[in-house]
Order: sequence, then structure tokens, then C-alpha cells
Amino acid sequence: MRILNTATLSILCGLIFVATSCYYDNEEYLYPSISGIRACDTASISYALHVNPIITSKCLTCHSTTAAPSSGGSIVLEGYSNLHKSATSGKLLGSISHAPGFSAMPKGGNKLSYCERTTIRRWIEGDTLNS
Ligand code: HEC
Repeated sequence: MRILNTATLSILCGLIFVATSCYYDNEEYLYPSISGIRACDTASISYALHVNPIITSKCLTCHSTTAAPSSGGSIVLEGYSNLHKSATSGKLLGSISHAPGFSAMPKGGNKLSYCERTTIRRWIEGDTLNS
């Protein structure tokens, strides 16, 4: 009886392991409409704390003041006032959303994550403040 229980338990554990190891654990896939809210805090977006770090790590290789003339189509995204210009023209959101009519950004790279895009969108919706 004891051996049977152990065997049954082992089989059950094996089955549970197999079943859960194939579980598609991608938040954006499982919760497409709310993953941005779940995955990152977008309640109060700050240019300095949230937006600029994304731009710095994903965009300034081509869009810094020095790189832009040769690599970034002369579009400078370094510093608040430059980013503010692209944001208010609609080009910033259009390009990172891969919307029709805009050049998809980052050029030649992976689309920004849902969380990164939501952060930038919320910043723009919240009046693109320099905070
Ligand atoms: C590998 C270089 C490169 C990277 C990285 C890159 N860009 Fe660009 N970007 C360009 C070039 C070149 C252009 C000029 C238009 C074109 O060639 O498509 C451009 C154009 C743009 C435009 C104008 C789009 C339009 O439709 O007028 C915006 C806005 C922009 N980039 C934002 C970004 C943002 C935001 C990031 C980071 C998430 C980024 N770019 C990353 C090279 C880059």
C-alpha cells in the first residue's frame, strides 16, 4: 500500500511537472489588455525617471546630438526639449507603435516592450511634462 502510494505520487508529480513546464508564461500573451498596468507602474510617469532611461538605452545610439546627423535622420531625441518636439508632433508615438505612415523605431531593432510603449504613451497623455 505504501509502495503504491509512493508510485502514484511520483506519477502525479511527473504529470504536474510536464503540464506546467509547457505553460505559456508570457504576460503580454495571457493578459493583452492589462499587461502594461500589471507589469509596470504607469500611474505617474516622470520624464527623468521613466521616459528618458528608455530613450537613452534604446534610441540615442542614433538619435543623440552627435549621432543624429549621420545615423538618425537628423532627428535628435536627446534632452527634454528635443524629445518634446517629436512627442507633440505625434512622430514619437507613431514610430514606436509602428503605426502606418511613420518610420518604425527602433530602426532595425526589436519593437519596444508593451510596458515601454505604455510608459511613453502615458507620458504624452499626461501633457509631456518635464518632471
Ligand atoms: C539604428 C539607428 C536608429 C535607432 C536605434 C533608432 N532610430 Fe529613429 N530613426 C533613425 C533614422 C535613420 C530615421 C530617419 C527616418 C528613416 O530613415 O526611417 C529615424 C527616424 C525617427 C523618427 C521620425 C519618424 C518619422 O516617421 O518621421 C522618430 C520619431 C524616431 N526615429 C524615434 C526613435 C525612437 C523613439 C527610437 C528608440 C525607441 C529610435 N528612433 C531608434 C534611426 C534610428
